Amino acid sequence: MDPDSFDLLFGKTLLINDLATEAQIRECVVLQSDRAADGESPFLGDLMVEKSFCSREDVDAVLRAQYKQELLRDDLDFKKEALARGWIGETVLEEALSHQRDCSVNEPSIQRLSDALIDRGHLSLHQALLILLHIKHQKRLEQSSPPPQPSSPDTSPIEEGTHLEGQVFDGYEIQSHIAAGGMGVVYKGEQLSLNREVAIKILSHRLSSNTKSIYQFIREAHAAARLSHGHIIRIFDLGQYRGLYYMVMEYVSGTNLRQRIEEQGPIPPIQAIHYTLQALSALQAGYAEGVVHKDIKPENLLVDEHGQIKVADYGLARIEDYLETEKKPSISGTVQYMSPEQVNGEDLDIQTDIYSLGASLFEMLTGEPPFRATTSMGVALMHVRQPLRPLEELPVPVLPDLYRVVEGMMAKARPERYAIPSDAETDLRKVLAQLENPQTPQPAKKKTSPERKSSSIRRRKRPRRR
Ligand SMILES: Nc1ncnc2c1ncn2[C@@H]1O[C@H](COP(=O)(O)OP(=O)(O)OP(=O)(O)O)[C@@H](O)[C@H]1O
Ligand SMILES: [Mg+2]
Repeated sequence: MDPDSFDLLFGKTLLINDLATEAQIRECVVLQSDRAADGESPFLGDLMVEKSFCSREDVDAVLRAQYKQELLRDDLDFKKEALARGWIGETVLEEALSHQRDCSVNEPSIQRLSDALIDRGHLSLHQALLILLHIKHQKRLEQSSPPPQPSSPDTSPIEEGTHLEGQVFDGYEIQSHIAAGGMGVVYKGEQLSLNREVAIKILSHRLSSNTKSIYQFIREAHAAARLSHGHIIRIFDLGQYRGLYYMVMEYVSGTNLRQRIEEQGPIPPIQAIHYTLQALSALQAGYAEGVVHKDIKPENLLVDEHGQIKVADYGLARIEDYLETEKKPSISGTVQYMSPEQVNGEDLDIQTDIYSLGASLFEMLTGEPPFRATTSMGVALMHVRQPLRPLEELPVPVLPDLYRVVEGMMAKARPERYAIPSDAETDLRKVLAQLENPQTPQPAKKKTSPERKSSSIRRRKRPRRR
């Protein structure tokens, strides 16, 4: 394993075990590359201690766990060889493994499988030595002989611009190009082992070669993979193939709301409400798991062949924000659906997703984004300062009660906005009942004054953040 991959694994282990935050790791990765430029090659763990982000004990604990894993890998070879020679059977092996486990409880000394077998009298010292020497010999052979040419996998980095269709990334065949996005390209593919259709998002070369964005990619994929919900695209796998990072996910055969609006114009209100309700139920599930999407927009709201919404890119948003600051524009990505707090660089929570979904609902109903300006910065500032257009200035008539829900989702100040997705859902369901059955008594009219809070647009306890 090269030192870079080792550090990557080390950082990942710190994160998974909550021993450090990603911001701390990012800071040390930057420091590490600065020092590398000065000809040094410090270990990431030492830098974490130097910056007082981690204790030496935590770093050592992670190293010990990794060391143990390497020994166990060696033990696996030993086990295979001893079994192949018929010197031990499965029962003896089980007994030795359980003895080894008992011993390892009394750390720090890690007992090797060979020690356990000798201790228990199952192998003589001579037999154990013969096996160890054989394994060593095999390893030396593997290292010195060039890999067999025709079947050896190509490990050289894939060059930018290479045609990827037809390639197999660790068991996933890339079949056809779906679309390019901000982070890379999405392909339709097949998971060969299970014979199932998948979508494969391959990170661009620029992001794949940036350690900080990779940390973020891995971490957020872990968060997204926790989510299991009918309206959220499932993440199946994450990997790296010849220098390119990729994510394998559920394939959605259909369209997305951006294409749908571009091709057919505004979406009829009942349909738009159904789409929004489905997206709100996805957001509610994310909220329950403490995951904020941060990039809800029509492109990320896919519509499957049954007309059901599937939210894409959970947790993957704005990977760009993790690149070095000098390389990133001050406002990155799509600004049309950005919440005021996102523009202001504040902490984000579930209400950001509610705002962006409100902006998407606005566009579903009217065929236009809420704000237009000649520059991205102009649009971003309008999210912060410019009130929404009054009902009578909308390009398409919208039912006042429905527009009030849009206003509640898009309130600029968070205390004025729906606190959680299910609050918006309650009001939207009332409007839906009204539209589907016009005889239903209408809910009492609410004033549209921004100072007045709707009964359900009230503060709840702050959503849990990751
Ligand atoms: N799981 C999927 N199944 C089918 N198509 C998908 C899937 N994920 C994404 N797509 C399609 O690929 C397109 C590109 O997706 P991608 O996420 O790369 O870019 P984007 O959503 O347009 O922008 P961003 O990079 O900011 O998210 C999407 O708009 C969608 O139509
Ligand atoms: Mg996307």
